[in-house]
Amino acid sequence: MRSSKKNTVSVLHYLQNIAEVADVVGAQISEQILGSQDHVIVNAGQRIDHSIVEKVKTNQLNFDELKISMTLTMERWRLRQQFADMLARFPDIRRVHQHMGFEADFKSLLGRLKITKPLAQALAVMSVRRPLLMRQSIMGAWFAGLISRQMGLSRELQDASFQGALYRDLGMLYVDPFIMEEGASTEFGPSEWKQLQSHVEVSSDLLNKHLEDPSEELASAVAMHHERADGSGYPRALKGEHIPIFCQIVAFSDVVSAVRIKRFKDTKRTIRDVVNVTLLNMDGFDNSIGDAFWNIVNGIQLEAVTFDDVERQRVLGILVNRAKQIHGDMRKLNEAMSGRFVKKPQNQLYTTVKNTLNNLIRSGHGDPELGWWLGLVASGRDELDEGSMAEIELQQAEILRQLDRLQRDLEESAPISGKNYRERWKR
Ligand SMILES: [Fe+2]
Repeated sequence: MRSSKKNTVSVLHYLQNIAEVADVVGAQISEQILGSQDHVIVNAGQRIDHSIVEKVKTNQLNFDELKISMTLTMERWRLRQQFADMLARFPDIRRVHQHMGFEADFKSLLGRLKITKPLAQALAVMSVRRPLLMRQSIMGAWFAGLISRQMGLSRELQDASFQGALYRDLGMLYVDPFIMEEGASTEFGPSEWKQLQSHVEVSSDLLNKHLEDPSEELASAVAMHHERADGSGYPRALKGEHIPIFCQIVAFSDVVSAVRIKRFKDTKRTIRDVVNVTLLNMDGFDNSIGDAFWNIVNGIQLEAVTFDDVERQRVLGILVNRAKQIHGDMRKLNEAMSGRFVKKPQNQLYTTVKNTLNNLIRSGHGDPELGWWLGLVASGRDELDEGSMAEIELQQAEILRQLDRLQRDLEESAPISGKNYRERWKR
């Protein structure tokens, strides 16, 4: 499909993903595949396994569309089941669902879903091969539907954000499976990040190809799901008014579902705690979305995060260390700002540095209140209530994440003869 980008995003990786799960999904080639001299490489009816992947690879075959037939597809009833499973698995989400009286409208959203066999197949592959990503797609769609209803968008736009969120990451199945492995991101270089980012384009291509008549809104919702209002997103680095509100809702839902599912994994945190993370990212979104989110979760009594004494000591320790680290990084960021980046305001890097600084400041760093909190922590007193503890920890984690992103950007844009920026600043 993406013949010009061989070995990066490719239909071969999709085939590889299917080969990994063929025993479960029962997949076979439905039309024969021909090699360069028109000789048959793969026969119709052949079960997809790794030997087929090898054949396609060694013959460097490029074809526009894989002729695959799969026993398992994500038919509407299965998809409905996925949503029911998600609500059962996450009590906080179920509580929001019930409290907001979303059941009937949600059923209608699902009933109006545009879906075709190839898309249903891709969703099925995702559910077996990338269950976590599938869960994020499901929760993101649920949330996008809920928040666009909350904001009073038209039915058409509610549909676009719900469906856009559901299909937003199908392109991930065309990314090298290695890149998708849990924890692989620590080894990523610029080319891996580029490949990962290109999933947006692939998801858009898939929709355009496989839906007879995707609405313009649905296409935009998918194409813009990683854009940010402050221009720090990708692939087009669009700004504010160029990203329609229903597209921003999909991008916001992407963040909410990723934080709730991945970053809060194995913790007692709920969707209520996601607010703390999104607060630090609101440069990227219209404020009305944050307000709607707050109104949704604020009206619901969700259990507070609780720490026992041991956990409390552990968190205090982490907090002190992070605070120290942030102090150091903040100083380095300031040096960087006064040096090479400040003169280029259009620079993407400048935006990242600026946002990181803003977030540091907004998180309370350097302001009297956080100073007071940190003073309490350092003196070992325990006047911090559990809510503030959880909040500080979340904010620190978010800042560190943004610092990591900054480091990545720095390495990508200015490799300094083998030394990364941390090494350089250490001197
Ligand atoms: Fe995505």
